[in-house]
Amino acid sequence: MNTCVSVLLTVYASVPVILYLFPWILGHVIYAHLLRLPFFVDLSRPEDVLNNTWNFYLNTEEDISVGVWHTLPVGQYEENDGREPGWHQETLGDGHPVVIYLHGNVGTRAIHHRVQLVKILSAAGYHVFSLDYRGFGDSSGEPSESGLTTDALFLYHWVKRHSRACLVCLWGHSLGSGVATNSAVKLQEQGFPVEALILEAPYTRIGEVVESHALAKFYTFLPGFQGLLWNILEQNNIVFANDENLKTLTSPLMILHSEDDGVVPHHMGLKLYQISLQTRRRLNTSAEVKMISFSARHGYSHNNVYLEPGLPTMVGSFLQNLMQ
Ligand SMILES: *[C@@H]1O[C@H](CO)[C@@H](O)[C@H](O)[C@H]1NC(C)=O
Ligand SMILES: *[C@@H]1O[C@H](CO)[C@@H](O)[C@H](O)[C@H]1NC(C)=O
Repeated sequence: MNTCVSVLLTVYASVPVILYLFPWILGHVIYAHLLRLPFFVDLSRPEDVLNNTWNFYLNTEEDISVGVWHTLPVGQYEENDGREPGWHQETLGDGHPVVIYLHGNVGTRAIHHRVQLVKILSAAGYHVFSLDYRGFGDSSGEPSESGLTTDALFLYHWVKRHSRACLVCLWGHSLGSGVATNSAVKLQEQGFPVEALILEAPYTRIGEVVESHALAKFYTFLPGFQGLLWNILEQNNIVFANDENLKTLTSPLMILHSEDDGVVPHHMGLKLYQISLQTRRRLNTSAEVKMISFSARHGYSHNNVYLEPGLPTMVGSFLQNLMQ
């Protein structure tokens, strides 16, 4: 019994020590990119999990290659089947809106809930691009906040170049919501504000998610632990400050958040909604901002908003308004 207690105490006490000695571990926990779930999908063969899809790679920096899936609006792929390489990018600019899907942490672009959402968006008539940021899936390199943002911006510019006047929407889920707003801030600063932004299960800033995590709560009464966490995040340049970003962003915004989200609490989405309303008031702009909360009784939790039968209509009316 005594040994058992002392082992538990040692394990308990060693977590902060290990984090202190090896601060990069926290980065690995946050990105969880080495967990390449699902294990038995060949990312170069999207047809095994997803129809209408073309796999390709972009060099977002000299030595970084990232894997991307381009899923066409349903029906368009078969029509074009068997054509030369590059035909799929010619289909951009056909008037169908484009969604760039920025996924959350853990795993690859082939994870089930990601694939299901892409299917729904494709069926609703959108082009969808889903990428694995550097370090994720079959992409090279190591993740970092600025690196993920660079990858997303590179894909955005690539899509814009090929899609000409079509509406392009950034959709960020969970960790990806920070990538989406970071990118949108950069684009707005450069004078090319994003035409539409959808944030699914977004957080205020990543440190607040770490703090609210059940495991971290174990340690909240350990003096200095929270300070240690914030220090490590700062050292690793991991901020993902949606709250700060939305103080300047004026792009049309739709937030989707389930009330029973067990990873990023619903009140964080609500806080972002309020920040965005204030920004619009302060800057006197009428750009749309919308929050859709899903009742806990649906049980969508953190990943499964795609189960909402009304989702295509919600996305459709948001984007349709912007195209007029
Ligand atoms: C692709 O579409 C066909 C025909 O609708 C269907 O039978 C098949 O299951 C789909 N494949 C995937 C991977 O969803
Ligand atoms: C806000 O913008 C509207 C038009 O977009 C304008 O009529 C109004 O005067 C502006 N208000 C302020 C305080 O600038």
